Amino acid sequence: MASYSFKLTAIFILATVTCSSSAAKETTMSLYFQDYSGGPNATVMQVNHGGLSGDDGALKFFEFGSLFVTDDPITEEFDSGSAVVARGQGLYVTSALDGKIAHVVISVVFTGGEFSGSTLQIQGASPQLEKVREVAVVGGTGIFRFARGYATFETVHFNLENHHVVIQFNATVQHY
Ligand SMILES: *[C@@H]1O[C@H](CO)[C@@H](O)[C@H](O)[C@H]1NC(C)=O
Ligand SMILES: *[C@@H]1O[C@H](CO)[C@@H](O)[C@H](O)[C@H]1NC(C)=O
Repeated sequence: MASYSFKLTAIFILATVTCSSSAAKETTMSLYFQDYSGGPNATVMQVNHGGLSGDDGALKFFEFGSLFVTDDPITEEFDSGSAVVARGQGLYVTSALDGKIAHVVISVVFTGGEFSGSTLQIQGASPQLEKVREVAVVGGTGIFRFARGYATFETVHFNLENHHVVIQFNATVQHY
């Protein structure tokens, strides 16, 4: 009997120590994707031109099955000339039959600032026509190991002439 209760106590202490040594930190950030969907320095490319409705050179964001690859500079401030702290590299595919949702799989690869060398992994169903799109933060590397959280994308600037779109990216991430 005495040895049984000793074991229970030992397990309890071990569990307590494990919990207190791994409290999650929460990091929030607000950054800007500088996206160019055309022109000589485009940062997004459609992979499967000519798929469903033929290739007229236009990007078919709202056509089911369109697949894009992107590599956007991510800046600290709204101004595209401000410090680049990361790249938004990944894929998105128009995944709703009616064209309204894109499935997004993007790595935020930090190249400067306090998170340099770390990454965040973003994944989710992005309602393309909404002003604010919420997606999940499903993981990370470096200081963001074991990360999870959520992020929003909000289009805050759109210039049709030079195909330049600025998207505010806010993330709330828990990690250790
Ligand atoms: C494209 O990039 C090149 C090299 O960085 C630059 O000289 C040029 O001005 C850019 N063009 C546009 C339209 O932004
Ligand atoms: C993103 O964060 C900025 C700065 O905190 C805030 O002004 C903005 O409203 C946020 N956007 C969303 C969609 O929550």
